[in-house]
Amino acid sequence: MNAEIVQKTAEYIRKEFSDDSSGHDWWHIYRVWKNAIAICEIEKANSFIVQLAALLHDLDDWKFNESGDETPHRAKAWLDACSVDSVTAESVCKIIMHISYKGAGVENKMDSLEGFIVQDADRLDAIGAIGIGRAFAYGGYKNRMMYDPDSPPQMHASFEEYKNSKSATINHFYEKLLLLKDRMNTQTAKRIAEERHQVMTKFLDQFMLEWEGADIQ
Ligand code: ADP
Ligand code: NI
Repeated sequence: MNAEIVQKTAEYIRKEFSDDSSGHDWWHIYRVWKNAIAICEIEKANSFIVQLAALLHDLDDWKFNESGDETPHRAKAWLDACSVDSVTAESVCKIIMHISYKGAGVENKMDSLEGFIVQDADRLDAIGAIGIGRAFAYGGYKNRMMYDPDSPPQMHASFEEYKNSKSATINHFYEKLLLLKDRMNTQTAKRIAEERHQVMTKFLDQFMLEWEGADIQ
């Protein structure tokens, strides 16, 4: 029964996210889902909650909603339509509400092991080689400059500031992506994040070298 609901949810989400070009396409959801399952097996949490939250986590994302809020209306409606019990549905919705990164200086409100796992899986997909690809995909989608040497990165102290920022994609590495390694919740994700972090620092070193033409001489 639970396996059927998970399968049905995956099919629904695959359709919903089929034509995204912002780095939040079905394959992002798929990677988060698979990584969350793998972390869940090591960390021993409720797999049904983890899988539903992983699959539904971006359905109500503030980055793509007119209202800009993160009340997971669509996820809730879907869970009700699948007759998921109310305790599970509530846990899943709570995870979705707290999953997003909201700025360097903004506290993380996640408070369940299942939530920690899904948040880590989502954050692992924001770093490393895939993270680099997704950041530039998102920047292009938002018409952002790739890099602007005149606009240094900012450590956003509130969600409002973070949300309204229009800065260049390279800034996003300093404002979020390079900070994620130390903000992973589980030991498993902390370990995986180390290598992915290094891929980004090497990329940024090379990017700056080429920007200055320092490798030409
Ligand atoms: P979160 O909910 O923490 O924002 P998501 O799964 O929605 O996580 O995906 C966030 C991804 O969106 C980031 O990893 C990055 O690739 C992209 N992104 C968000 N904001 C920016 C930005 N200002 N510049 C570049 N990429 C961004
Ligand atoms: Ni996501």
